[in-house]
Amino acid sequence: MKTNIAVFYGCRSVEHEVSIISAVQAMRAINREKYDVTPIYVDKSGTMYTSDELFEIENYSDLDKLLKVSKKVTLIKDGDSVSMHYLENGLFSKKKDINIDIAFPIVHGTNCEDGTMAGYFEFLGLPYISCDILSAAVGMDKKVFKDVLNANGLPVLDCVCFRSRKYRTNKQETIDEIKGKIGFPLIIKPVNLGSSVGISKVKSEEELDEAISLAVSFADVVLAEKAITSLREINCSVLGDADSCEASVCEEPFMNDEILSYENKYMSGGKSKAPSKGMASLERKIPADLEEEKAQEIRELACEIFKATNSSGVVRIDFLLDTETGKVYANEINTIPGSLAFYLWEATGLKYTDMIDRLIEIAFKRQRNRENLTFTIDTNILSGVSFGTKGSKGAKL
Ligand SMILES: Nc1ncnc2c1ncn2[C@@H]1O[C@H](COP(=O)(O)OP(=O)(O)O)[C@@H](O)[C@H]1O
Ligand SMILES: [Mg+2]
Repeated sequence: MKTNIAVFYGCRSVEHEVSIISAVQAMRAINREKYDVTPIYVDKSGTMYTSDELFEIENYSDLDKLLKVSKKVTLIKDGDSVSMHYLENGLFSKKKDINIDIAFPIVHGTNCEDGTMAGYFEFLGLPYISCDILSAAVGMDKKVFKDVLNANGLPVLDCVCFRSRKYRTNKQETIDEIKGKIGFPLIIKPVNLGSSVGISKVKSEEELDEAISLAVSFADVVLAEKAITSLREINCSVLGDADSCEASVCEEPFMNDEILSYENKYMSGGKSKAPSKGMASLERKIPADLEEEKAQEIRELACEIFKATNSSGVVRIDFLLDTETGKVYANEINTIPGSLAFYLWEATGLKYTDMIDRLIEIAFKRQRNRENLTFTIDTNILSGVSFGTKGSKGAKL
């Protein structure tokens, strides 16, 4: 019997559509001689579906039709095994539960990539690819990510971080703090979104309120940091786990606007054109045009960040290079990067199919290590416990 991989994607996230593209790409790359693949599409309400039609990207252009031919499913844990169970079973064509050996979450953004999905699989005891709960959560929160890197002596831009409530009740105080500590131009961003949603560059105090209002409409916590004006953006992917990891070649994505926008990232060719290749369609230079020494510095930094955040699987770390000072700052980590950064690994000499093989090995290794840990303690604590007869106070614990 082949190992059955359940690919989870979609979810309640602003990056829902991007996740579909990443997942369909990955499902096409999985080695079918070694593995079976079960697609589990999670719609924007969180309902899970499966069908063979989910393998074809063209079918997603009419989602209603696609979901009509797909079946609602859920996961069931029974002892050591986890299976996919059909919720809508025909009376005469009862579909059997399908055993799942490993989960492959290909989700981007809040409510999924932020550790939520990792938590679901941990709860089920199902091996899964990608970062664990804590590292995924750290990666999703730009402020906590900065704090972790700061604590490890790794370079990030200073920031002022505040809650939307504080801004509403103490507007001037917040503005004064931002002006005093950061200065203009600056960038306002929600701490936990992706794909440039809710991000603005602010050149003067007059523009600040609008930018913050936009950011707080997406997230409860917002941060302000210095805008680098002589900016080059350099990304690097890392593959592995805490024991051993390696960095890919670097890429330089190009932007049409001042900030690398959602359209730049996924809709190269114009807003009206449907995205077809996700992150793989972005205009970019691979390898980035960097002096070997700089590229090496960034690759080493990427590995240090991967370890400091206790990452696992494949991540992409995005850097800001200030060309005036030559300084490199870590901007963010994408713990489940768009297109799983396969294009960076192919440029490094690792085929997508082989990269997925490595991800599966890493996930099973983590599971084996976990199985060696003690999670339960046998005790007889309950054997002598009684709450006594009705009305008495019973045993005191
Ligand atoms: N400090 C900064 N200085 C200049 N540009 C920035 C800065 N921070 C972000 N940007 C621009 O905004 C884009 C999106 O910001 P980022 O932090 O990567 O958010 P997201 O998680 O949405 O991708 C970046 O790709 C870059 O173009
Ligand atoms: Mg980014």
